[in-house]
Amino acid sequence: MNEITVTIDGKECKTQEGEFILNVARENDIFIPAICYLTRCSPTLACRICLVQADGKNAYACNAKAKDGMEVITSTEEIEAERRAIMEVYDVNHPLECGVCDQSGECELQNYTLEMKIDSQNYAIKDTHKPTQDWGLMHYDPSLCIMCERCVTSCKDMIGDTALKTVPRGSEKLPAELKEEMPKDAYAMWNKLNKSLIGSAISSETNNLDCTNCGECIAVCPVGAIVGTDFQYTSNAWELTKIPSACSHCSSACHLEYEVKHTSIENSDNKIYRVKNEFHYSSLCGAGRFGFDYQNQSDATKDADKLAEAVEKFKSAKNVVIDGVITNEEALILQNLKNKLGFNLVANDETLIFDKFVKAYEKVAKKPFTNGTTETIHSSDFVISVGTALKTDNPAVRYAFNNSMKINKGAGLYFHPVVDPVINGLGKNIAQINHQPHQELKVLYFIISLFATEEKMPKEILDYAKSLDYADLNLPDKFDANLTKFLKKKEKFSLIVGQDFYGSDEAEKLAYLVAIIEKHTDFEVLVISPNTNSLGVSLICDLNENLTDGLTIGYNIKKSDNLNIDYEISAFGDGDFNIPALNQQEGTFTNIDKRVVPLNSALSFNGYNLNDIANEVLNLDVENTIDYTKYLPTDKGYKNIAFDDLENYFTNAQEEKRGYILDINSEFSDEVISFSDSNKIKETKLDANLKVIYLANPINQFNGFTHKTEQLAKLDREQLNNHGGLYLSPAFAKELGVSNGDKVKITKANNNLELQVIIDNKIDGEISYLPTFDNSVSYKTIFDKDYRFTQVKITKLN
Ligand code: SF4
Ligand code: SF4
Ligand code: SF4
Ligand code: FES
Repeated sequence: MNEITVTIDGKECKTQEGEFILNVARENDIFIPAICYLTRCSPTLACRICLVQADGKNAYACNAKAKDGMEVITSTEEIEAERRAIMEVYDVNHPLECGVCDQSGECELQNYTLEMKIDSQNYAIKDTHKPTQDWGLMHYDPSLCIMCERCVTSCKDMIGDTALKTVPRGSEKLPAELKEEMPKDAYAMWNKLNKSLIGSAISSETNNLDCTNCGECIAVCPVGAIVGTDFQYTSNAWELTKIPSACSHCSSACHLEYEVKHTSIENSDNKIYRVKNEFHYSSLCGAGRFGFDYQNQSDATKDADKLAEAVEKFKSAKNVVIDGVITNEEALILQNLKNKLGFNLVANDETLIFDKFVKAYEKVAKKPFTNGTTETIHSSDFVISVGTALKTDNPAVRYAFNNSMKINKGAGLYFHPVVDPVINGLGKNIAQINHQPHQELKVLYFIISLFATEEKMPKEILDYAKSLDYADLNLPDKFDANLTKFLKKKEKFSLIVGQDFYGSDEAEKLAYLVAIIEKHTDFEVLVISPNTNSLGVSLICDLNENLTDGLTIGYNIKKSDNLNIDYEISAFGDGDFNIPALNQQEGTFTNIDKRVVPLNSALSFNGYNLNDIANEVLNLDVENTIDYTKYLPTDKGYKNIAFDDLENYFTNAQEEKRGYILDINSEFSDEVISFSDSNKIKETKLDANLKVIYLANPINQFNGFTHKTEQLAKLDREQLNNHGGLYLSPAFAKELGVSNGDKVKITKANNNLELQVIIDNKIDGEISYLPTFDNSVSYKTIFDKDYRFTQVKITKLN
């Protein structure tokens, strides 16, 4: 894109061609009032308050693109009269309940009313009765709603659920004479506002909004019309202290702010009241927004005997089992302890197979990471997703996928065995291809056959890819014709690769082809790291594959049927030695974008932590865990920056100033990547008499921490006590003759699992799934090694 210069109120501003005037002004710290516009979403022109003059003509700053040499004036007498009239209209019949409204103090209606000095009212209309609505985790009060449509816009353009829409308000018409008397834009805005309200679909099964419950509509609402049901009337906004941090539930580690204050008059301990986000730059899913109360409330104290016991356990341990839901600093301390004590450091989740996949990629690519980020997905106009149940594996990447479809007029392909209605809902320009399990390699060859060119792709690979028969991939009708349509005028290509690959028997071949595609096609590739900090753990720790006989410590790993854990160090609150949970810790994560992001503690913890154990074992006197931040390994791209020097915000120019990006080489060398028969496909046939089960989590559940939180439990289908079970599509449940809560037996060879049925209307087709968030579901007994798909017999129990 070309750099251009525009002048706003006499200030020369450099920007990129095609940028909206409003964003240019914001980048240059020039204020233009704006209510309805959301950065990264399409302008709706609902409020019209951003009126400016551009080259002498009236224009809406959120919708008018800057042109080279353009002169913009943000305020004239006419503009101010329009803005004032608009604000007066917004204030017509707005309830005077600011004293108790949840938004009071940070309400945009309040702020602009003051900004425009609205101290009298020229307009009036009879009010209509508008009852409040219960949307489950959200609460909608239409009388407070100013119909800016930000909730509708965000849900559609960012989240991709399209769960909200405008519906008729049922009010009286505006007096006709006002059309002549009022400023033009104010009348048009009022006319629109007066006709509509926000409507939603409520699920008959759960009484919640029938959507993925991200709560982003709460975040973007400028007034108190949509609020969190649990938060409502619990605190004034100005009483809450904001603590910027990172979500700890998945590998995006999204930026968020915990809002805390004392628990009650009797209890001065801080409590998290809600989570907010910088919605113009970063969107949360429901786990980040509602799953915040997982702190370790074990009333831990500094018990010297317990500390001594933990130190002794470490000294005699043969194995320490961890997962990817720990900070970089905890990973470094554990690695230091391993170096000194010689135990096996074993990852009990997808982190180890991810580590092996990344190393297989590095062996071929001669660089550690692929070149894509969440941001490259946002800015692409053609996106392919393979090997991931994107909706639940990484919601932030799903939002980026959706956003690129909506804002860049994009198109995409979604390859996955599980039929996903939410992905279908992202738009008509995405083809969903529900291939069979074990066909991931074939999918990559298919992508090469479709997108690689003779100029760029080595001939033998392209020839092989083109020689394969793809008829068994279950391509939708008119695939070729639709793809031709999708690809028109597309310029920026992205490929998302997910965790189905890492546990595949063919993981090495898949890693090889990912490197080939990245090097020899136009695709930028984003690899989704499976758990919150799997990437950090895989970089910092030298992981072992197997346990040996002897004492085994579980670090946030519970004793279970599958693992012989002798001693539990636990942030869940029921361990042998209690440590702080991630909302009680300072530290860093290495997220999916190879960014080291800071995590701040929202709540206190009065016991010991891993740093205290390490001090005893290693004879050190390190005061805080975050003193390790600047010692993260520089040979892996970490920088010698102290925790307190890490930034944690976004700029008005939409720049992410959070921590830093790993300092690594991301360019391919000229070295030729060889191709041999070992990279070719080996067909695996499914047993037609068995059913396929997938390992995944339901929407907004990720791990034992999300499982602990109260609000997410309320999303549980039919209140099945928030225990995992076998999740089935409504159609498959009908085929099996089972209903919610019925029991089924799953049989794999000699292993049986008895589970309750949970019907999930956010999947379709015959593949059911088993979750990992609930430790009581012993899923490992029925899965072959690490692959996410398995075949079983499912029998209904009476
Ligand atoms: S919670 Fe999220 S998905 Fe549901 S209506 Fe609100 S923005 Fe849309
Ligand atoms: S509910 Fe809030 S965000 Fe939605 S239209 Fe009303 S005021 Fe705007
Ligand atoms: S769970 Fe993932 S996508 Fe959701 S808010 Fe947390 S980091 Fe972001
Ligand atoms: S911000 Fe431009 S029309 Fe609302």
